[in-house]
Amino acid sequence: MLSQQENELLTRIGRHMPMGELMRRYWIPALLAEEIPTPDCAPVRVRLLGEDLVAFRDSQGRVGLLGEHCTHRGTSLFFGRNEACGLRCIYHGWKYDIAGHVLETPAEPAGSDFKNKLRHIAYPCSEVAGIIFTYMGAPEKRPLMPRYEWCDLAPEQVYPVKAYLQCNYLQGIEGDFDSSHTSFLHNNNLANAERLKRDGAPILEAEETAYGMRAISIRKAGAERIYVRTSPYIMPSFSIVPGPPTEKFDDDDIRGFRFWVPIDDQTTWLYILNMRKKPFSVEEQKSLRAWLEPDYRRVRNAANNYLQDRQRQKTSSYTGIATMNPAEQDGCATESMGAICDRTQEHLGYSDKTIIALRKLLLAAVRVVQDGGEPPHVVRTSQDADFSRLRSIKGVLPTGSDWHKVMEGMGPNDA
Ligand code: FES
Ligand SMILES: [Fe+2]
Repeated sequence: MLSQQENELLTRIGRHMPMGELMRRYWIPALLAEEIPTPDCAPVRVRLLGEDLVAFRDSQGRVGLLGEHCTHRGTSLFFGRNEACGLRCIYHGWKYDIAGHVLETPAEPAGSDFKNKLRHIAYPCSEVAGIIFTYMGAPEKRPLMPRYEWCDLAPEQVYPVKAYLQCNYLQGIEGDFDSSHTSFLHNNNLANAERLKRDGAPILEAEETAYGMRAISIRKAGAERIYVRTSPYIMPSFSIVPGPPTEKFDDDDIRGFRFWVPIDDQTTWLYILNMRKKPFSVEEQKSLRAWLEPDYRRVRNAANNYLQDRQRQKTSSYTGIATMNPAEQDGCATESMGAICDRTQEHLGYSDKTIIALRKLLLAAVRVVQDGGEPPHVVRTSQDADFSRLRSIKGVLPTGSDWHKVMEGMGPNDA
């Protein structure tokens, strides 16, 4: 349980709010590259951290992320003309480049230098693995972008999607560090009654790391074996969750890197960057987004009660919510808490150990920012930027194993 003040501190992400300031110290996803696929294509609206923005791709293919409302008198640049390396407002023709320079003010007298005194809101962008990242903090505090393994994968080895969530980002990411829910919410085979007995109440650990935190869960897996999962939390609100148990690390597995990005206090984009060594086929790409509408809303959502099937709930699935992606069941659990969960009313138990650790980490980070300091795990040197070995690990081991040690031999780890 949190105090009202702590809950506010962690969930309010507007500019000038402490968590809003913290989020603005890191590179975060702003949109998918596919939303603005070609030079001079139509701009799109982007709402991010409570700010209304417009993204466009200029004639040279460079991405701009500008304040939505024209510096002149506020007309939306969403309706603008994307032409000749700039976005031009349709009201009086003011034209902006990707850096927010006012290039032209054609309704002003010839020779006017008015435009040189102005600068429009513009955030720097970096396009990696089909996602356009941005940095929305003070320019002098801009950090390096970490180098994850997916930064070096070929376009056909990555497939990002995003999903709209009608609740605060923290509810979403807390689900990634709540290992025990997987045995219930994601149990799609009620016939396997042994499963709950075996792994409904895992042993949990949390360790602070160079990038944020790592949550560990350890379950029984038969008489003499344990099943270990690790889930990294990467500042400010990213995670990697493991897939189903396998005996060994397998490069053919699809792995998902997850970014929980606040649209505003009450809504969130979940970006899932699917990645794999083997290229994704077009059919696989289709199935990875089959749970989403073209506008990235989920087919199963609050408005249709997640298409819950009560008969199915009696006979085969814990939730009765069919799933093409576990995020559909997660969405029901987290959205139904309310737009901003009232954490003063919770009753946390042992199974919430890693969530408590996550909140502590975030509260400490927010307080550093409030005191004028640099938040943790902001990347400043190219050496620190190497996140390429960061993985979520899962594996079945003999009971009593030193899992830290054994896992190192099973595949790349994040030590
Ligand atoms: S309001 Fe945009 S040019 Fe006048
Ligand atoms: Fe889940």
